Amino acid sequence: MGSPGLLSPRIRGYGPLVAEIESYPFQSGPRGCPAHEWDARRRDDPLGPVRLPSGDVVTLAVRHDDVAAVLIDPRFSRELFYPGAPRMFDGFDLAALPDTLLSMDPPRHTRMRRLLSGTFTPRQVESWRPRVRAIARDLLTALPAGFDLVDDFAFPLPIQIMCDVMGVAGIDVARVRGWSEAMLSTSSLPPEEKVAAAAEFHAYTTELIATHRDDPGDGLLASMIRARDEGDRLTDEELVINTIGLFLAGHETTASLLARAMLRLLDPRDGYERLVAEPELAGTAVEELLRVESPALAAFLRVATEDVELPSGTVRKGEGVIAGLAGANHDPTAFTEAGALVLDREGPPHLAFGRGPHFCLGANLARMELREILTVLTELAPGLTLAVPAGEVPWTEGTLVHRPTRLLVRR
Ligand code: HEM
Repeated sequence: MGSPGLLSPRIRGYGPLVAEIESYPFQSGPRGCPAHEWDARRRDDPLGPVRLPSGDVVTLAVRHDDVAAVLIDPRFSRELFYPGAPRMFDGFDLAALPDTLLSMDPPRHTRMRRLLSGTFTPRQVESWRPRVRAIARDLLTALPAGFDLVDDFAFPLPIQIMCDVMGVAGIDVARVRGWSEAMLSTSSLPPEEKVAAAAEFHAYTTELIATHRDDPGDGLLASMIRARDEGDRLTDEELVINTIGLFLAGHETTASLLARAMLRLLDPRDGYERLVAEPELAGTAVEELLRVESPALAAFLRVATEDVELPSGTVRKGEGVIAGLAGANHDPTAFTEAGALVLDREGPPHLAFGRGPHFCLGANLARMELREILTVLTELAPGLTLAVPAGEVPWTEGTLVHRPTRLLVRR
């Protein structure tokens, strides 16, 4: 989709008041609890402006109804490559990389999504369940009595599972993690370092694909390579950039959710105790933890290609809009006791995986992984406790994914 053709987002409509407009992303509260701005805006300013790190001013949707409406409406475009398009960041901006699934509109998006989605059907994902359980069991059993739940457990698991899904024997975990974290950083790194990390990740993935071509096996990467080489349904760049996207999206969010979820369950510890006593709650517990502890606070920036009526007001053609998932998932009009963790909550569905055409491709996989991991933990480590007070757990700063960086626990 081309330019919706309006004024630069820096000046559109807001003129001299720009400096007074609230900056976004908001600073989350202690232990990742949603910033107070989400509540205030839901109440008073549901489609108000925010100033992004790039200086661009966009609209932030915070109510459940508005957020869901933005996500499903095809008039909100993710193709932000025209001159003057709003940007989250100057310099490197993950959300504005061309050729990724997430930065495409139909029909290109539909074509690419169809190509990848066969791998993530409920049936396919179900067939991986025993393997995920085995990986989680082996990993946990090999750990000493005291360990760091983030580095020793939450990260290695989804990375191993993504390698299995892609059909890749192994990856250089430390470097892939480093590059992913750099690409997700909002303020902790200068743009040149993010660009350098993205370039290294790109070169590494290109090499990985070249090697994989000789012995492709039957994983997702093999079918992506076939789509490139035989069907010409993927360009070289689409192949590389979407492989990066899958490795990045496939491990960072799941690991971060797990780290946050475990802190929430272990302090106060009654959440964990309840799951130990009632393991059949693992399914609803995962949904509830996704709702309240998702590290992804918002969907990626979109632009209105026409004037659009949302439940709380109108968004004008050309305006950038952020669908605030954290606002929606804590909206008391959608969820009773919205701030509480209710492990047996029955609906309505949360928006942690987004909604509509860009609904998380890996949602089935993430759900299954999280459920198996919780089950294995409560079965094999029913006495798990925090080894440090929750208030002393260090958290990430200046990154799109907010989570503990270290979570020392004891069995
Ligand atoms: C707890 C774990 C996860 C969370 C909270 C999460 C969240 C999200 C969200 C909110 C979106 C939509 C963004 C938007 O509309 O702007 C999304 C899209 C996506 N996710 Fe996930 N995700 C998770 C796990 C995964 C996994 C395991 C994979 C890969 C296997 C994955 C791959 C993707 C991809 C490829 C997209 C883009 C889909 C498209 O544009 O059509 N995610 N995810």
